[in-house]
Amino acid sequence: MSTILRAEGVTRVLPGPQPVTLVRDIDFALSPGEFVAVTGPSGSGKSSLLYLLGLLDRPTEGRISIEGRDTAAMSENELAATRLARLGFVFQFHFLLPEFTTLDNLLIPMRRLGRWDEAEREDRARALLASLGMDEAAGKLPEQLSGGMRQRAAIARALANDPALLLADEPTGNLDTRNARTVFDIFERLVADEHRSVIVVTHDQEQAARAPRQVRLVDGRIVHDSARD
Ligand SMILES: Nc1ncnc2c1ncn2[C@@H]1O[C@H](COP(=O)(O)OP(=O)(O)OP(=O)(O)O)[C@@H](O)[C@H]1O
Ligand SMILES: [Mg+2]
Repeated sequence: MSTILRAEGVTRVLPGPQPVTLVRDIDFALSPGEFVAVTGPSGSGKSSLLYLLGLLDRPTEGRISIEGRDTAAMSENELAATRLARLGFVFQFHFLLPEFTTLDNLLIPMRRLGRWDEAEREDRARALLASLGMDEAAGKLPEQLSGGMRQRAAIARALANDPALLLADEPTGNLDTRNARTVFDIFERLVADEHRSVIVVTHDQEQAARAPRQVRLVDGRIVHDSARD
């Protein structure tokens, strides 16, 4: 089976007079169509791990490769281009640009990527919003949307450039149960119907249990990976 993302012996230490180890000895491989929930106590390194796997941070030891390419050999520009084209990010806060409509929030990363012309971009963005039940949000500003809609708009934006892998850090942290369920419904569909991969960090045990693969972190280490036992 092919591997989208592979971490081998990854450790990340913040340097300083008292160095802080964020994660240590991480071995992790992810295939297309895998849906992984990452759980663990507060401060166990979940966000740090997601940043490393999302190529937003670099390991101090070990290696991370994406689609067979070693990221150590990639410049910051190459990493940014890879994130833009291959990865989508969703956080606890939506980070939509408040002065732009939902549609424009989707078009902005698509313009940066430059893969489609403007008419095609708009068609794709509208189709994406429709697929998430968000047609009517296209012309609205983020402040005009409900919390659940805003987070779905943020997911739509994360999907705008057709990423192979979606990384989400506490995406339901600000949502009620119904909206949290909707977010995980979307993740399930991305995996089942579109063969994307999803890594989601969550404290929500009920939703986490829906992911076929479970990874648990304690003190920066993977103490359980259901793919391995
Ligand atoms: N910039 C930093 N400087 C010092 N320590 C840091 C820094 N960033 C993270 N840490 C520490 O590294 C550890 C891992 O943090 P991280 O944010 O990855 O944990 P987490 O599992 O995402 O926690 P939470 O569930 O609260 O979001 C924590 O002990 C945290 O205090
Ligand atoms: Mg965190």
